[in-house]
Amino acid sequence: MDAETLRQYLEYYQDLGIKTLYRRAAPEPLANARGSVTEPRPSGSGEPLFRILDDIGDCRRCRLHEQRNKIVFGVGNEQSKLVFVGEGPGADEDAQGIPFVGRAGQLLTQMIEGTAKKEGIPLLRKDVYICNVVKCRPPENRQPQPDEMEICGQFLARQLLAISPKAICALGSTAAKYLTHSKEGVTRMRGNWYKWNDIPVMVTYHPSYLLRAYNVEPKREAWEDLKKVLHFVYD
Ligand code: URA
Repeated sequence: MDAETLRQYLEYYQDLGIKTLYRRAAPEPLANARGSVTEPRPSGSGEPLFRILDDIGDCRRCRLHEQRNKIVFGVGNEQSKLVFVGEGPGADEDAQGIPFVGRAGQLLTQMIEGTAKKEGIPLLRKDVYICNVVKCRPPENRQPQPDEMEICGQFLARQLLAISPKAICALGSTAAKYLTHSKEGVTRMRGNWYKWNDIPVMVTYHPSYLLRAYNVEPKREAWEDLKKVLHFVYD
């Protein structure tokens, strides 16, 4: 990486309010409770999330169960006005049973909290809800296959209907395509609103892509997308 690209990276992270760069150590504690957005909201379908988890049980409905360690259901505020949906658990998530706790998850946390802080919105990671299209880690981090998403998607749908957020943020192409049925690439979709069952869906890049992206432009764009969705939900 040349000096100019490195400078752009550092500037971007600084803009997000990030003061330290990652180490592959234990995940950061999930933010403390003070001064955050936790107003109670009526739930949608009325189904408690524990019942959905209960129905998932020791799921063997698709081949993804064969190599998983833990089912990764979801984490956060069950009454959140905003739900982030990723693709599927990676190695760290599979080990801990919690979505977005690896490097991509740390970036997601910093993006949510850094952008919210900069925009004057008192929001911490624990105030939103975070889950994935599939709940078991695809081997070698491959993309989930259509039948796996179909089978597991029923649980995502129940989660979304139960939480009934004001908006959903789809992280990356798999979640975006699954939720919206669009055939477009994520580069075209990002920054735009779609709908899932009448709930607005904002599409943005997956944090894993942002960790790899050489160019600083996608990072700036993801930041714009996040600002858009945060203002829509919390203004
Ligand atoms: N990538 C995802 O899509 N989800 C996770 O939970 C972690 C990484």
